[in-house]
Amino acid sequence: MSGDDRQTTEVILGEERVFRPLPETVVEANVSPIEYEEAMRKGQEDFVSFWEEAAKELEWYKPWDKVLDESDAPFYKWFVGAQCNIVHNALDRHVKSFRKNKVAIIWQGEPLKDIKKLTYYELYRRVNKFANVLNSLGVKKGDRVAIYLPNIPEIAIAMLACAKIGAVHTVVYAGFSAAALRERVNDAKAKIIVTSDGLYRNGKIINLKNVVDEAMLECSSVENVIVVKRTGEEIDMSDGRYLWFHELMDAASDECETEVMDAEDMLFILYTSGTTGKPKGVVHVHGGYMVGIHRTLKWVFDLKETDIYWCAADPGWITGHSYIVYGPLIAGATTLMYEGHPLYPKANRMWKIVEDFGVTILYTAPTTIRMLMRYGSAIPKKHNLSSLRLLGTVGEPINPEAWMWYYQNIGQERCPIMDTWWQTETGAFMITPLPVSLLKPGSATRPFPGIHADVVDQKGTPVSEGKGGFLVIKKPWPSMLRTLYRDPERYKQVYWEKIPGNVYCSGDVARKDEDGYFWIQSRADDVINIAGHRIGTAEVESAIVSYKAVAEAACIGVPDPIKGEVAKVFVILKEGHEPSEELDKAIRQHVRKELGPIVIIKSIEFVDSLPKTRSGKIMRRVLKAKEMGVDPGDLTTLAD
Ligand code: PRX
Repeated sequence: MSGDDRQTTEVILGEERVFRPLPETVVEANVSPIEYEEAMRKGQEDFVSFWEEAAKELEWYKPWDKVLDESDAPFYKWFVGAQCNIVHNALDRHVKSFRKNKVAIIWQGEPLKDIKKLTYYELYRRVNKFANVLNSLGVKKGDRVAIYLPNIPEIAIAMLACAKIGAVHTVVYAGFSAAALRERVNDAKAKIIVTSDGLYRNGKIINLKNVVDEAMLECSSVENVIVVKRTGEEIDMSDGRYLWFHELMDAASDECETEVMDAEDMLFILYTSGTTGKPKGVVHVHGGYMVGIHRTLKWVFDLKETDIYWCAADPGWITGHSYIVYGPLIAGATTLMYEGHPLYPKANRMWKIVEDFGVTILYTAPTTIRMLMRYGSAIPKKHNLSSLRLLGTVGEPINPEAWMWYYQNIGQERCPIMDTWWQTETGAFMITPLPVSLLKPGSATRPFPGIHADVVDQKGTPVSEGKGGFLVIKKPWPSMLRTLYRDPERYKQVYWEKIPGNVYCSGDVARKDEDGYFWIQSRADDVINIAGHRIGTAEVESAIVSYKAVAEAACIGVPDPIKGEVAKVFVILKEGHEPSEELDKAIRQHVRKELGPIVIIKSIEFVDSLPKTRSGKIMRRVLKAKEMGVDPGDLTTLAD
């Protein structure tokens, strides 16, 4: 791909379109092309010292005795013996520097007039106050706090306050149902839930407190619920366990010591869907996590002091944890949070936000891009998007058509697109370009320096160029998950025992091309990806069979032009029930109640039987092949 020094951005090589960065992008980049290649080489030859060098850019209370301890693999430990606190790096050190009065968070609520800006000093003091609130309610180091809040500054304040005192947060996305919240709170045995009266979404007020009330019917570990007043709607606070956030904050001191943590102490648990109905509690720790997110963000999004950086995700997902809250704050950047829907009140909302605040870096998901594309390019053209210098995407493979639209209409052929492949489990970007990379639309390009990714077959043997296989990571990395909460066996079995050779199995299928570029294809397991949200087919099935008229159910993912994938379900009814439109509607409502609105069901098909193995496992791939009109492959295990 090299050897062509024309000053155009687009080069056609064979069948492929390759995009080069503009000369000014290269000149301004934190990491030059030479430094990048050198880092790639070093990261391959000696990944331990690559990450050690990255760790030295942060402040530690006590340095490590050893960078990596592999003695109890796959329970890897990083920066062994070191002491630190991620909040020291995200806040404490900045308020002693020139960043004290720099804006840390710009918050745009969904209603246009709702805007807040918090400087590092203001954020620091609020975090201290809330840390004192948690202390006063008996929260101690290691205790779990569930956070069920919309995209408002208080979610960042709550997360940081937990980390500050060494408590472990578990954020539950505010679109999840009462049942999903309850399951996570109970698994984590959370002592406190932090929530709000409600949130704004697409012009409507959604009451969150009601959802928490319903969850609380069976959450015996929870002692208090702290409620942020966001919408101001009347809510019942008569239950003595419920406390107003603002009242507690008013009474709290704004000084608080930051807890000294071991590098390997737990920072948070974030639940993600697995192939069984039970979500997996992915555990991240203070030390390695901060090193991974800081290095990747600084290099991939090329953060500068003057940037206005907007990651248009929700803090309820890993993207928000790593790249709305912790990453940008550690880097001392200005991070923008937007509470609402991308189409509210009109389809120009995102471009208006870019223009209003002079956003320089925009990071969003392919599903959002495809949705906005439908409204045409005339809408972004009406806005001044000249502040933008870098774009990013995450969550699912981006189709080249959406990539091109984003590149031409939003980036105006000036901004490189960072297609970042990573997972809740990886904590930080794993396969991603840097601004100086040559880009191929639809490819997440190459592994980040220090990351040893490969595509292998079932036996762990690398597959040849162009062939699909399992995407694995062959060496540990600092921001990796440490275990699954209270389930170390499942951690080993899900990630480390599927493919021989002590490699981390990502659960994704990918191929590598002749330039070593990775093309992520899909999930290999029974997980579907609806608008960038991972949903286990088993979770959908278990929600459906909990409906009274349903005997059995099978769920598959089918392609959708906007959401990437949506669910299609096959249902066997119990004796005495007949398929009907009402039943179709009732099942959909039931799923929504059980799992929340993120599960989008395209259609429900009532059937008399399901393809199963002799041991009784539903063969979803047979259903899928039939649905897609392709060969179902080996059917020898099929019972009937
Ligand atoms: O299948 C991959 C897809 O999203 C999965 C991870 O989902 P989650 O843990 O919820 O984290 C999403 C945000 C990091 C992956 O296993 N995925 C994520 N990013 C990409 C992607 N697929 C293709 N290209 C990407 N850039």
